[in-house]
Amino acid sequence: YANYGVDRPLQAILDALFDGLQRLEYRGYDSAGVCIDAPCAPASASAAAAPDGRCPLVIKHQGKVSDLRARAAEVFSEQAYYDGAELYRRHVGIGHTRWATHGPPSATNSHPHVSGPDGAFVVVHNGIITNYAALKASLQRNGAVFVSETDTEVVPHLCAHLYRKKGGKCSLDQLVMEVCSRLEGAYAMLIKSSHYPNELVACKQGSPLVFGLKRSDRPATPTPTSAAHLDARAGRDAGRDQSGGAAPAGGGVEVWLASDSAALLTHTRDVVMLEDGDLLHIDPSGRPHVFNLRGAAGGGAGGGGGGGAANIADLEVTRACSRIEASAEAVMKCGYEHFMQKEIHEQHKTVADTMRGRLVMDGKPHKPLASSAADIIFSGARLDAAGAAGLFGGGAARAGSLELPPQAAAAAPAAPNGCAANGHANGHANGADVTKAEPFVMLGGLEGHVEGILRCRRIVFIACGTSYHACLAARKTLEDFAAMPVVVELAGDFMDREAPVFRDDTCVFVSQSGETADTLRALEYAKNKGALCVGVTNTVGSAISNATHCGVHLNAGFEIGVASTKAYTSQIVALTMVALLLGADSRAKAPKRLEAMRALARLPEDVSRALALDEDMRALAGQLKDAQSLIFFGRGYNYSTALEAALKVKEVALIHSEGINAGEMKHGPLALVDENLPIIVIATQDGMHRKMVSVIEQLLARNGKLIILCNGDDPDMDAFAARGCSLIRVPATVDALQPIVNIVPLQLLSYHLTTLRGFNVDQPRNLAKSVTVT
Ligand code: F6R
Repeated sequence: YANYGVDRPLQAILDALFDGLQRLEYRGYDSAGVCIDAPCAPASASAAAAPDGRCPLVIKHQGKVSDLRARAAEVFSEQAYYDGAELYRRHVGIGHTRWATHGPPSATNSHPHVSGPDGAFVVVHNGIITNYAALKASLQRNGAVFVSETDTEVVPHLCAHLYRKKGGKCSLDQLVMEVCSRLEGAYAMLIKSSHYPNELVACKQGSPLVFGLKRSDRPATPTPTSAAHLDARAGRDAGRDQSGGAAPAGGGVEVWLASDSAALLTHTRDVVMLEDGDLLHIDPSGRPHVFNLRGAAGGGAGGGGGGGAANIADLEVTRACSRIEASAEAVMKCGYEHFMQKEIHEQHKTVADTMRGRLVMDGKPHKPLASSAADIIFSGARLDAAGAAGLFGGGAARAGSLELPPQAAAAAPAAPNGCAANGHANGHANGADVTKAEPFVMLGGLEGHVEGILRCRRIVFIACGTSYHACLAARKTLEDFAAMPVVVELAGDFMDREAPVFRDDTCVFVSQSGETADTLRALEYAKNKGALCVGVTNTVGSAISNATHCGVHLNAGFEIGVASTKAYTSQIVALTMVALLLGADSRAKAPKRLEAMRALARLPEDVSRALALDEDMRALAGQLKDAQSLIFFGRGYNYSTALEAALKVKEVALIHSEGINAGEMKHGPLALVDENLPIIVIATQDGMHRKMVSVIEQLLARNGKLIILCNGDDPDMDAFAARGCSLIRVPATVDALQPIVNIVPLQLLSYHLTTLRGFNVDQPRNLAKSVTVT
């Protein structure tokens, strides 16, 4: 996380860094650190003092960002020379919150990392430098002394080494370009240096990095300049003073960098999603320049080479700005105690948002009633010809393949708990014929690819964790409607096997974040094999949405709780719509299709009714909170529900939990059944109902302690209730959508189990939201 700003006192600079880091904390929270330019300690006469007399001050701490904030307050209270109110004309602050990969959580291993005691180069980094061991050995031979166990520490040392080699005669951007050319692996990195005061370099290769711009509150002093380098709206604004006069060299512009736009929203909505190979340089006058190092002779990102570096000035590129039309509420708890709770409770709206403008009922795009406070709309995104990859797909047709979300609704209903609803009405995708009387689905992001998908020999879903479960939930829907073989793969396992992929396969990569390293690796692999690659993500501009040929955006809004909830239900909605689209020409399936589309239109209401079980789930959690283990049985569509519910319980409530295919019960798991082990059986009235009734009978015959998730009007279940089973009654919908309704009370159960057991809901032990390392 970085802030390059103007006219701020140190305390405000620090507060801004801490606030930003707290918004990113869901990505990792075992240690944190910041570096700012502070007054030099009087005794230090530090070698690292910048020409402006300031010294880099690094503060690091094991634990949460709140602990780091407290630590910073201590540091400054100990230092009499520090004046928190003194204004800094320009400042560069960088910070990081860590999820340990190389080296355990500790203050030493936390970022920023520095180039030795003088701290002349300071770096924060997300990702993994895979060739760090070789670099470290070579730097050590040249005298570098490493203090941490991290891969990242090679970067500041490499900067210092090259700087010395060049006798300091090198610009910061050129220097970092040459550093990048020696790095292999993935990174989003921020680099500052006391040799280059008021400059900042950010570079991206494989890990996400978003750049936001905001005009400063204070007018800047105009200075002569050339045209602004970022040519879209924010870039133009960046180059104008407040009177609309000549560009002031970005003087009044504040710049933010973060791994996720969620951390920028409270400051600005004008963002640039940096692309792989991009190097952003904020020059001493505050002006941003973007270069792309890919293909640079000897100097390309991740090139691992190093000889004969290109001149960076020749590599400047144009990047268009996007405007994020999300309200700041999208990243706030809005009266809920936790993000996970908020995200569970907004699912009646988020499933509606996923369908909005895409489900055409009675000749008109269906207008689901629910509307979300967490909308994220990228308008005018990436329409520049030069600006490489778009939301989904590439090439000249990109604008047409954007899943541009809909317009703001005139009258959106108020959202609960103090957040204003920020709903929007429907947009028409890509000029589809919405006067057609029959209901149908339109997915602009797949336009031009439907025939290609239907010609494929099979569909291969590839994902991790909850997203994998969503694929399992949707598999039969795809098989039914598209009448194609469907395979579902865990991305990591798929790559461990280097499973065969053919040119006539369609590979669908499902990922909330769009950044998961295993999924991304599988995508590169499948693409190299010539498969058609489709992305289903919730993050516009993410690596997966950029690298796939086409796709569907979930529009579910930022998901901040580490445990995925609303993304799961939206993924199933999106995949169901893909199935309906692929099967649109089958006459035989028309009645079933119609039924599914009507059920989709009713889904927000069904989800609302499932959410009304909140209090019941809290009471049930009270009964189960001390259980050693919880088992979930499901089959067919609801095997995925069993897996997903078990994952939620284990990851947040920290109770051992297993999701078991009820068809496998007799092949081993039955041995576990006794009067103590709580078993939740998913027995809603879908195609598996009869079989599940028989499963329940067999479990009861072994004195199983059963909680049955069933539909409200199921007479079989009344009889089981009379025999001592507890019931969770959910609304009935079509088989394909029943997993969406069914998971809602089980998400609530896992949430309440967690709070009752006193664990951190939003930041479960050892986990991070985006798993950007393999
Ligand atoms: C569980 C959870 C994870 C993610 C998995 C994939 O609640 O969130 O299992 O589903 O790490 O992440 P994405 O969907 O971002 O690829």
